[in-house]
Amino acid sequence: MTESRLTVSFVGLGYVGLCTAVAFANRGFDTLGVDVDRERLALVEVGRAPFHEPRLDRLLKTAIVSGRLRVSEELPDVAETDVVFITVGTPSSLDGSMDTRYVESAAREVGAALRDERDFRLVVVKSTVIPGTTRSVVMPLLEANSGKRVGVGLGLCTNPEFLKEGSAIEDTLHPDKLVIGAMDEGSASHLKQLYHALYAPEIPPALETTPETAEMIKYASNAFLATKVSYINTIANIAQQIPGVDVEQVAAAIGLDPRIGPLFLKAGPGYGGSCFPKDVRALIAFSREHGYDPGLLAAVEKTNERQAAKVVELSEKLIGSLEDKRVAVLGLAFKKDTDDIREAASIRVIHRLKEKGAHVTAYDPMAIPGARQVLGDAVEFATDPKSAIREADCCIVMTEWDEFRHLTGKDYVEQMRRPNVVDARRLYRREELEGVNVLAIGSGHSRPIQSGLSSDSRVVP
Ligand code: UGA
Repeated sequence: MTESRLTVSFVGLGYVGLCTAVAFANRGFDTLGVDVDRERLALVEVGRAPFHEPRLDRLLKTAIVSGRLRVSEELPDVAETDVVFITVGTPSSLDGSMDTRYVESAAREVGAALRDERDFRLVVVKSTVIPGTTRSVVMPLLEANSGKRVGVGLGLCTNPEFLKEGSAIEDTLHPDKLVIGAMDEGSASHLKQLYHALYAPEIPPALETTPETAEMIKYASNAFLATKVSYINTIANIAQQIPGVDVEQVAAAIGLDPRIGPLFLKAGPGYGGSCFPKDVRALIAFSREHGYDPGLLAAVEKTNERQAAKVVELSEKLIGSLEDKRVAVLGLAFKKDTDDIREAASIRVIHRLKEKGAHVTAYDPMAIPGARQVLGDAVEFATDPKSAIREADCCIVMTEWDEFRHLTGKDYVEQMRRPNVVDARRLYRREELEGVNVLAIGSGHSRPIQSGLSSDSRVVP
């Protein structure tokens, strides 16, 4: 493997696979993307991203037009490349444990594809996998199907990914660290060589570990961030009981302590997405399987699930029984700048609103097609925020889209039957919604704001 002609391939073109492939291609690497989903491949092949991600469309187009990124439905094509990244999904099984089905079949097929290769090949597990998976699941399958031994003509590493949806390209181009969990010295040095070529001259700090430690780092990272969110939501729910306490000021103040840090302390409706819920569940299941009940993580998960009920309670505080009331839900995506509704808090909230007999109208700038598949006709979908809130008794702001910031107190007063807003993302300053009954997560006020009243929800700079 010589640096000048390194070629890379990705098995699985989901968020991680596609964004990373595009980053490599844009930095001049000949890159191959393989997926079983023909519709997805057809889009990627013409330079169209199959999901919304800022900057992805433009960089993908450049990568395809330049010929640096090619796609294929034929997994054996990866044998042509020096480094094969496994980037398939690792969904939850029914009991919460990690489902390794796709990783197993990728390992099997990559192994078979490499059977006749004479040159050194490096296989890198980038999918999030439970500690021990690379050594005890991937390696035996690779070896059995390739007829090779790891360490002899075949390298194997675990190399977890830390990119976030919404800033996936930026995170891939400028990661804060590289975690290289190598089976042997040769594998580690090949992967470092690849990343050197990708990132030079600004090479991120690289941590070399065992594969098991690398796998654990990924879970520890996501579980810690999820813990921060459930922690601040707990504080928000306590603050809600005490007039005069505001969780945002509490978070800003505690965040100034470098031991705590300011990030991931935004109270809200609970975390969602394709990673935190699944990874916390998998870590709990894995730990229990090994005889240790991780009470803290179980509480993190439970707190998160109960947060949707807290949001609905706030709407009941404002308008009483929800039976036959019209409730507008602004935002369906699990966070802004994505069309992803996987495990979104909005879905949990909508199910609860429906159970309580409310009529729900929802709007999201990007996530309606995905939400429609999950919610069907249980919900009416609006084409813009104003028509979503029209004639509603209560509006719940579920996603922090910038577009919702443009709604004024006047808009809510004019459009709604009764101007009641549950600000589950703390999007508005209190004084911005003049004339509106607002209940924000983590501060216990509901009276309408009159002009001249100062905000009590902001940190004074
Ligand atoms: C997360 C991690 O942040 C990435 O580092 C990781 O690589 C990724 O999972 C993964 O494992 O693939 P992501 O799921 O894209 O990234 O989203 P985050 O930005 O982490 O947000 C997760 C959820 O927490 C969202 O619902 C968000 O609204 C919520 N959140 C986040 C809060 O409620 N409060 C906060 O202060 C921060």
